[in-house]
Amino acid sequence: MQTYILGIESSCDDTAAAVIMDDVIISNITAGQDVHKNFGGVVPELASRAHQQNIIPVIETAIQKANIGKNQLSAIAFTRGPGLLGSLLVGTSFAKALSLGLNIPLIEVDHLQAHILSHFIRNTGRTNPIPRFPFLCLTVSGGHTQFVLLRDYFDMEVIGQTIDDAAGEAFDKSAKIMGIPYPGGPLIDQYAQLGDPGRFTFSKPNIPGLNFSFSGLKTSILYFLRDRLKEDPAFIEKNKNDLCASIQATIVDMLMVKLCMAMEKTRNLNPAHEWPDVAIAGGVSANSGLRKSLENARDKYGWNIFIPPLQYSTDNAAMIAIAGYFKYLKGDFGSQADVPYARAK
Ligand code: KG4
Ligand code: ZN
Repeated sequence: MQTYILGIESSCDDTAAAVIMDDVIISNITAGQDVHKNFGGVVPELASRAHQQNIIPVIETAIQKANIGKNQLSAIAFTRGPGLLGSLLVGTSFAKALSLGLNIPLIEVDHLQAHILSHFIRNTGRTNPIPRFPFLCLTVSGGHTQFVLLRDYFDMEVIGQTIDDAAGEAFDKSAKIMGIPYPGGPLIDQYAQLGDPGRFTFSKPNIPGLNFSFSGLKTSILYFLRDRLKEDPAFIEKNKNDLCASIQATIVDMLMVKLCMAMEKTRNLNPAHEWPDVAIAGGVSANSGLRKSLENARDKYGWNIFIPPLQYSTDNAAMIAIAGYFKYLKGDFGSQADVPYARAK
């Protein structure tokens, strides 16, 4: 018998629902929120209100597109955290009510774990390769930047992380300094493709081990632009593509240097001294520069790499559904007493 799980994601500014049939996604709907564009970032109160408006149509569409009836669902999986509390409450409360109404289990999912587990989503013919345990994942999103060593689906160890801003924040804050609207990451990526990544250089911090720091980059860009704008007030406009390409190259290089170190470290844990499989996950894994650099590393070192399809890179509910599926198989169910959490566990 097939298992159908409805996944619900509402941790930030995307209201999303997906239905998975075993490990194959059969519908995947995301409603973004344009309301934040004028504010240069996500406004939590506005996000919760937009989730309230979007959640019913998004879930109804996901079930309709899956071409199943609600009563065929085996369980409801929802993002419990980390994220904005008001946003999480909308998805959590809806999931609880639906699980009560349909009398089916409730499954709580951690958003960061779900980003990584999106690599186990199968295509219809189940022909796509999936990572082999243990493998290394670089999770790069708007709120987190972490190296995670996975020994099993839910056996995850964080072996390095940012000590201040996340990589996505580095993109978004750099964009804001240049007057590029939120979220700046995808736009920087777009302009960068037309620019020269070697034109400008920004200082990179020297952080020991597998940790990162991105907050200094923002300051370095701010001072650099302040000086240039004094000489030419149109400096940003004239050099937008080269600035974006140079900033992107700096961030990607910081990630890749540490990724090589993390791969060496993980390889040394293995008695056969083989490279582990390596994956990237989270919104910044959509970045064309990061994707290209990982492909170059694959060609250079012979790594077996996993890059998520774009629809599973940024926030989505398919990843919540696949994480829910693996918990369902283990009988790892949540309860009506589960409350959202804002910070990573
Ligand atoms: O995973 P995600 O959708 O939400 C969080 O869980 O945070 O990640 C959002 C982050 C934002 O900072 C956004 O600017 C960044 O991912 N992002 C990108 C790209 N697409 C999304 N950054 C660089 N290049 C992109 N193409
Ligand atoms: Zn995310």
